[in-house]
Amino acid sequence: TAAVKSKLGNLTPLRSKRVRVSGWVHRLRDQNKIIFIVLRDGTGYLQCVLSGKVAQTYDALTLTLESTVELVGTLQPVPEGKTAPGGHELVVDYWRVLGASPGGEDAFTNRLNEKSDPSILADLRHLVIRGETASAVLKLRAALLSSFRQSLVSRDLVEVTPPCMVQTQVEGGATLFKFDYYGQPAFLTQSSQLYLETCLPSLGDVFCVQESFRAENSHTRRHLSEYTHLEAELAFITFDDLMSHIEGIICSTVDRLLADPSTAALIKQLNPNFTAPARPFRRLSYVDAIAWLNEHGIQHEAEDAEGNVIRDEAGSAKMVDHQVGDDIAEAAERRMTDILGTPVFLYGFPAELKAFYMKKIPGTSADGGPVCTESCDLLMPGVGEIVGGSMRIADMEELLVAYKREGIDPAPYYWFTDQRKYGTCEHGGYGLGVERFLAWLANRFTVRECSLYPRWPGRATP
Ligand code: 4AD
Ligand code: MG
Repeated sequence: TAAVKSKLGNLTPLRSKRVRVSGWVHRLRDQNKIIFIVLRDGTGYLQCVLSGKVAQTYDALTLTLESTVELVGTLQPVPEGKTAPGGHELVVDYWRVLGASPGGEDAFTNRLNEKSDPSILADLRHLVIRGETASAVLKLRAALLSSFRQSLVSRDLVEVTPPCMVQTQVEGGATLFKFDYYGQPAFLTQSSQLYLETCLPSLGDVFCVQESFRAENSHTRRHLSEYTHLEAELAFITFDDLMSHIEGIICSTVDRLLADPSTAALIKQLNPNFTAPARPFRRLSYVDAIAWLNEHGIQHEAEDAEGNVIRDEAGSAKMVDHQVGDDIAEAAERRMTDILGTPVFLYGFPAELKAFYMKKIPGTSADGGPVCTESCDLLMPGVGEIVGGSMRIADMEELLVAYKREGIDPAPYYWFTDQRKYGTCEHGGYGLGVERFLAWLANRFTVRECSLYPRWPGRATP
């Protein structure tokens, strides 16, 4: 009978049938003249057994890891007491090599040694992604994006695809990548927020999943120069609505992943102790967070007027308590989430620390404190900030003042300003770093593991 051609992920209904499969030799073992291949094709893994004549050919005796092969045989349940991926194995009666992978010096395993230093592994990212962990992260990433989209669409948000080449900044001029655009200066987008805001009168609530770019000279576990930014914007909402929406999207996205057996298995593989976060998420105002840090003895590095860290003669940084008005730096933020152990919304940041477009909370400076904004960061244990959001300035005059304070020339922002001129509304939105979210979900040490080909200062290869 003719063999059925199948991908490895769809084999279960084909038990005891003759099947034809193709893939890469993921593992290879020779035991008493029987050759065991674990085949990989991206959709799954399959143990294939070559014995007798088919195991005694020149190709069989010289087969190498990562060669591509085609195999035909009968799919059988694995014998009692043995295990194999999917619970079945292919008893091969015909096979051939499609593309041999080199042996010797240039063998795959020689190039890709677990002990390789990180910069070599970064150069070899195209080979690293063949591994079980890296490919599981990328599969989970795909499922995550799809789940996010379903959560957003089910709440009637419409997906749009704003441009990546822009002539306006969103999150401060210091982190813009500039380039020459037909003789004019232009930037790679830092955030699609301003464009999303313009879609509200046209499409209603909107979202996008788009690359954002940050020229930040940060070599941290959570900074990339290019990252996938999931952003949404909602009209006629309150600040409380915004935080509830963010919480709802995250929880329904995670619940959907856990309800699907194949993605639940990926999460289990990567992050065995993962449990869905409980709702509602804790909310802590910025001012209370500063007090909390001081109560817990979490200090930050003192800086001089130029922003340089003050060090003693031995070179250690001088540590000081937090004060209202201070930025909560990455290290303090991480320690805070590690102690709390749950997601936490920090909200109400001083306007001074935040972007120009954020809505201010009236009366916040009346007691001598800073002018605070209707802004929130969602922090996750192990990662810190994964979402940044806020209500936006709805009033045109107030926006013009905000441009001025930030030193922004309003001319290129005319279309953003018009949003307030032609029927303004209370609105707000957020941006979620997909790699940071995935680092939390899959318990990865760094966001670099959560991007297909990560970019950071000095790295744009492969
Ligand atoms: O906090 P950010 O800068 O906020 C904005 O860009 C808003 N305009 C978004 C909006 O309201 N539509 O960035 C949002 C999120 C952060 O919380 C973080 O998860 C991620 O984007 N992010 C980065 N991820 C990786 N590498 C970087 N360099 C990142 N910068 C921000
Ligand atoms: Mg932020």
